[in-house]
Amino acid sequence: MPADFDVKQHRAQPLAVNVRNGAIFASFDPTAEPFEDYLGPRMLSYFDRVFDGRKLELFGYMRQRIDVNWKFMFENLKDPYHASLLHVFFVTFGLFRMDAESAIEMDETGRHGAMINRRGSKLDEVAAYEMRQTLRSDMQLKDTRVLDLIREYPGDVTAVICTFWPNLIIQQQSNTLAMRHIVPRGPDSNDLHWTFFGYADDTPEMRANRVRQANLMGPAGFVSVDDSEVMVMSREGVTPYNDGADVAEMAGRTVEDHDHTITEVAVPGLYQHYRKVMGL
Ligand SMILES: [Fe+2]
Repeated sequence: MPADFDVKQHRAQPLAVNVRNGAIFASFDPTAEPFEDYLGPRMLSYFDRVFDGRKLELFGYMRQRIDVNWKFMFENLKDPYHASLLHVFFVTFGLFRMDAESAIEMDETGRHGAMINRRGSKLDEVAAYEMRQTLRSDMQLKDTRVLDLIREYPGDVTAVICTFWPNLIIQQQSNTLAMRHIVPRGPDSNDLHWTFFGYADDTPEMRANRVRQANLMGPAGFVSVDDSEVMVMSREGVTPYNDGADVAEMAGRTVEDHDHTITEVAVPGLYQHYRKVMGL
């Protein structure tokens, strides 16, 4: 470099950074609204439920490339309805059932969402019918430890999946905790980055549960392997019809919270915000 080269004049672009309870957020946009305002009070409460100030411990990463538009991935986490139809593992082993007490909640804009679920106990008639349609009842796990649950949050909620616009998913399913980042790779591909973690003060039993249950997730997860395959099938199904329109009206035409998960309302919530941002 010449003698008068001043590195301060050529620094990398500074980022707007926010740290909250061990989670670090950065934005290239210096005018980004404050993190707490961005999430809104309700979504912030779900964020703080997992990031509650305890020291975090990183367990590991998984990464996968899925050849679909990034919004497929985000839609997937906003659509609870597919879970009991597609994810036979969930329903067979009781991790997710349509008869369980559940809810879909959003922030005021619809851009963020939370899917809240409880493990069901006794099976009602609708769920029993649903299971007969989708399952082989003779299917059993040889090692059931992957289903072990140590209840750790107030109330009896056993799963909360948060989708924070535009590309962050925070997942608490039983004892597994993870962040997923969607990284678009052009219009027809995205990388999904999974970061699994726990708390530094976890007991050995809790830590073992979290690590073991990570087998449900990721590129070859007992559950999430279904999603990536079906998303690609969906892309192949809709691609020939670029001039067509999707209809997502299960449970109404307005964007509002539902106290059940037989609904796709969070998907219109996403697109309400997407259209606004994109000026459509
Ligand atoms: Fe899924």
